[in-house]
Amino acid sequence: MTAAIPVPAWLVGCGNMAGAMVDGWRASAVDFSNVAVIRPSGAPVESIRTLTDYPDQQPRFVMLGFKPQKLDEIAPRLEPHIESDTIIVSMLAGITASILRQRFPNARAIIRIMPNLPVAQRQGVIPLYSEDRDDQACDAVEGLMGLLGLAPWCEHEDQIAAIGAISASGPAYFARFAEAIGRAGVTHGLSSTLAHSIAAQTLIGTGAFAAATGESMGEVARRVASPKGTTEQGLAVLDGPEGLQPLVDRMLGAALKRVEELAEAARRN
Ligand SMILES: NC(=O)c1ccc[n+]([C@@H]2O[C@H](COP(=O)([O-])OP(=O)(O)OC[C@H]3O[C@@H](n4cnc5c(N)ncnc54)[C@H](OP(=O)(O)O)[C@@H]3O)[C@@H](O)[C@H]2O)c1
Repeated sequence: MTAAIPVPAWLVGCGNMAGAMVDGWRASAVDFSNVAVIRPSGAPVESIRTLTDYPDQQPRFVMLGFKPQKLDEIAPRLEPHIESDTIIVSMLAGITASILRQRFPNARAIIRIMPNLPVAQRQGVIPLYSEDRDDQACDAVEGLMGLLGLAPWCEHEDQIAAIGAISASGPAYFARFAEAIGRAGVTHGLSSTLAHSIAAQTLIGTGAFAAATGESMGEVARRVASPKGTTEQGLAVLDGPEGLQPLVDRMLGAALKRVEELAEAARRN
């Protein structure tokens, strides 16, 4: 797939997440000439010009990659640069399209995304949502996100939070689960290094296995758990009424509550 960033382009904030996207685009040979990273630290980003303030320019593409809590500070200074052919892409969790439209009334199109860290390896999930019926802008952004992994459009804005709670937060959840399994291995006599490395490799290997076979996670679990075998006993604990599902439901509920709180704080300002 070929895709180009509309230029001039600004990446406003380029920390963990926007940096991971840049890594994925770099691996896709995206052209970064006429792209600028704008961040207060001025910390360099390989092969992209980095600035500490907005240049005297009207960008055609602006990606918001800072924390949602920074919107109030950043929007008033950024807004005068936004013109009727500027596409804004926002990864700000909880900041709705209508809040963004209030802050950037002149923008050509506002497109929300909720990427996850594996975009760096082009194995990401990047849901997209827009209320602006601008097919050209939407196609351009979909092309760019498609370079980084699975990039589905959301019909309703709520879906971006729901998908984000699974895929954007998901690397942290899967990582925590692998850590817990590693710790359990230590309890059973393995060295910490060995236990954590085999737990991590099992997570990586399970993903690779599922990707290669096309099997669902349910099928993968069934394949491992032979009747009356050892894994079946372990799964019975996870599948019990006090097991994994109620815990995961509470986990996602807590994350989605925070999305609501961020949106509410942004609406108040
Ligand atoms: N991390 C994830 O997995 C993930 C997933 C989905 C969505 N997101 C969203 O991605 C956004 C960034 O998260 P992150 O984890 O990448 O945070 P981060 O690593 O802390 O990066 C934040 C970036 O914002 C920049 N910044 C701070 N103040 C700024 C200002 N006044 N003007 C311009 N840039 C400014 C920082 O610049 P300096 O580097 O110069 O300090 C930094 O580059 C958040 O809105 C979050 O909701 C994150």
